[in-house]
Amino acid sequence: MRIKIGDSAKIKTELLCGFVLENSNVVLGLGNFDIKTTSVINQTLKDMEGKLGRLSIIPLSEKNAIQRILLAGIGKKEEITRDTIRSISGKIAQKARELKLKEFTIIAPPTFLIDSMLSVSQIVEGSKMSLYKFDNFKSEKAEKSPDLTIIVSKSNKISNIIKEAEIIANSVIFTKSIANLPPNQCTPATLAKFAKTISKNTRIISEPELKKQGFGGISAVGQGSKNKPKLIVLEYNNGPRNEKPVVLVGKAVTFDTGGISLKPGDRMDEMKFDKCGGCTVLGIMKAVSELKMSINVVGIVPSVENMPGGESYRPGDIIKLYNGKTAEILNTDAEGRLILADALAYGEKYYAPKAIIDFATLTGACIVALGTNIAGIVSNNEKITKKIYESSKRTTEDVWELPLNQDYMDMIKSEVADMKNVGIGRAAGTITAAAFLRNAIKDTPWVHIDIAGVAWTQIATKEKSYNPKGATGFGVRLILDYLQNMKN
Ligand code: BES
Ligand code: MN
Ligand code: ZN
Repeated sequence: MRIKIGDSAKIKTELLCGFVLENSNVVLGLGNFDIKTTSVINQTLKDMEGKLGRLSIIPLSEKNAIQRILLAGIGKKEEITRDTIRSISGKIAQKARELKLKEFTIIAPPTFLIDSMLSVSQIVEGSKMSLYKFDNFKSEKAEKSPDLTIIVSKSNKISNIIKEAEIIANSVIFTKSIANLPPNQCTPATLAKFAKTISKNTRIISEPELKKQGFGGISAVGQGSKNKPKLIVLEYNNGPRNEKPVVLVGKAVTFDTGGISLKPGDRMDEMKFDKCGGCTVLGIMKAVSELKMSINVVGIVPSVENMPGGESYRPGDIIKLYNGKTAEILNTDAEGRLILADALAYGEKYYAPKAIIDFATLTGACIVALGTNIAGIVSNNEKITKKIYESSKRTTEDVWELPLNQDYMDMIKSEVADMKNVGIGRAAGTITAAAFLRNAIKDTPWVHIDIAGVAWTQIATKEKSYNPKGATGFGVRLILDYLQNMKN
């Protein structure tokens, strides 16, 4: 899909799309076009009432420079959110593909409605993201994505805005496309290969080096699979030399059977998505370098496959984590916190970062607490949490903070080791998992993002055009916004 800026005076398109406010009798921005079929347009406007999400197509004469007009309802002006243009643009793009068009045109809403730069990036993100389809393994491929022309009233700097939004959307798509891979096609070694395509500055730590260097969590969880564990470390240094980096850590369990504490079979296939945190980190690193951001960022992805077998780690085992603390294993299905604890401690020790952010499909409890549309966050630092909330508002990747105090830290104390890898019963499972992670680091500002509910589309997931079935790439847009704004 190619995207370019168009000129309303010279337009020639198979489909011209404009936005309509609720109960409005005008198509936003259509006044600049030389179009005569006013009575049909007026009647269609009346019929559709500009209701949010409604699309109406008016065919014009084949000979016309404009072959069809599409009116897209965006609802009440006061109720427009930062997601409206993104999700409606996605619907439009899917419609254009359904009609097998080669190209389509969207008129960006005028500035009185939304900042024009903002709406253009939302048009780009929405249409690109919603045209992605995971069809690698289908004999019949999805229709080719149509090209997009955007009409804007003020066009200075817009081409940069488009380029940037394209990079961001492509990185989300990259994250989705590796996260969607089935577990027989994506092992820790496969992820390591993907990481190397993103950056030359990538290190892979493998067995036996992992054991030798003391990565007890990654080694223990990984020992039950023939697909050996990898610790993937990507560095991006384009900020001031002496500026501390931001460290991003992502859980990448390429398949989580639960191990010896085997999961029930129902929907176990979805545990191919247990690598989504790591895929998010890879997507962010890709975008950061393509955007040539002037910052220092390190991505750390501990990757394992959690399998049951004669070599597997067991309930009852006591292991030593990278920071020297010992952990009693009471459930081999609580594996994410073990590999993350190693990665977090490593990131803090080697990079003395100014902030650490981790992403993980860590707990089913997070879905019970917050459902499948909001990620859970737990942090040790109010300032960085506030920044994440601000980015969340701007990107509509929703988060909600859960508390962590000493009482919860006490819930993971073990009789026989420094910690145990589960809390007490089912109580506050997301928080006790975070308490385990909290123990891995000292006082570096840290935010943990539990994406168990939001990393892929589940039964209760709110449908959005730009999140077709499968992995969502949650966190890529959120953290790119954070990185772009952290110095403000
Ligand atoms: N990857 C799972 C968490 C998960 C489950 C994410 C379902 C999304 C959907 C994680 O490794 C896990 O199994 N967690 C256990 C922890 C428990 C054993 C303390 C859980 O949530 O049940
Ligand atoms: Mn598990
Ligand atoms: Zn898991």
